[in-house]
Amino acid sequence: MQKITIKKILNKKSKTPITCLTAYSKTIAQIADKYCDIILVGDSLGMVLYGMKTTRDIKIETMILHGKTVKESTRKSLVVFDMPYKTYANKFIAYRNAKKVLKLTKCDAIKLEGGKKIANIIKYLTKRGVPVMGHVGLLPQTSINYKVKGKNFSEKEKILEDAKAVSNSGVFAIIVECVVENLAKKITKNVTVPTIGIGASKYCDGQILVTDDMLGLSEFLPRFVRQYSNLRKVIEKSVKNYVKDVKMRRFPSFKNVYR
Ligand code: KIV
Repeated sequence: MQKITIKKILNKKSKTPITCLTAYSKTIAQIADKYCDIILVGDSLGMVLYGMKTTRDIKIETMILHGKTVKESTRKSLVVFDMPYKTYANKFIAYRNAKKVLKLTKCDAIKLEGGKKIANIIKYLTKRGVPVMGHVGLLPQTSINYKVKGKNFSEKEKILEDAKAVSNSGVFAIIVECVVENLAKKITKNVTVPTIGIGASKYCDGQILVTDDMLGLSEFLPRFVRQYSNLRKVIEKSVKNYVKDVKMRRFPSFKNVYR
């Protein structure tokens, strides 16, 4: 099993689609590691696992616990740690936190949300050897709504400029979240690093989804998600049958008992 490196990710641009999923736990990380190029320990875990209202509430210490587990459960994929809100407020804070995260979790890279505004922070980190993935378009940590971005000319121009600024700051890939198709296409053409789309069309160099969404565990499903399983239904049926069996004294049965 060959380890995916940043060089390999860069080489895939315009050639081979880059495959990515989120993981917060050992089991999902072990499975995703068999098939995905990149595993993201996304700050979406605040909402998905802990039921928080936004991704802004998750603490770096909680993320570190999940990051460590995910990294320890993988051998091949590149593991990216999503830096939580306010942990990269300026370049000094960002560097201190990035070093701490990489030391404690052993993850391969970090991800920062934002465009032009954080380009100097990204440059500061990458110049000091911290591998960074960018994130433009819809920015869950700071966007005022979760609506698709790039519908009007000025927004389109701004996001394109953001992507170029981030690309020129030394990132090895950029997540492009929830933007209209022709903008995703333009960004992908105009930046030198691979783009990884989520709700950003087939024109990106790779794709990422929140694993709980594509497995059918999440309650709300955005239009851009394809649901590959309905685990919520599978789990509910299993729980219902277990409870029924216990009540009917059908479980434990002969084969579940020690003698
Ligand atoms: O936190 C996350 O899961 C993400 C993805 C939506 C890309 O940033």
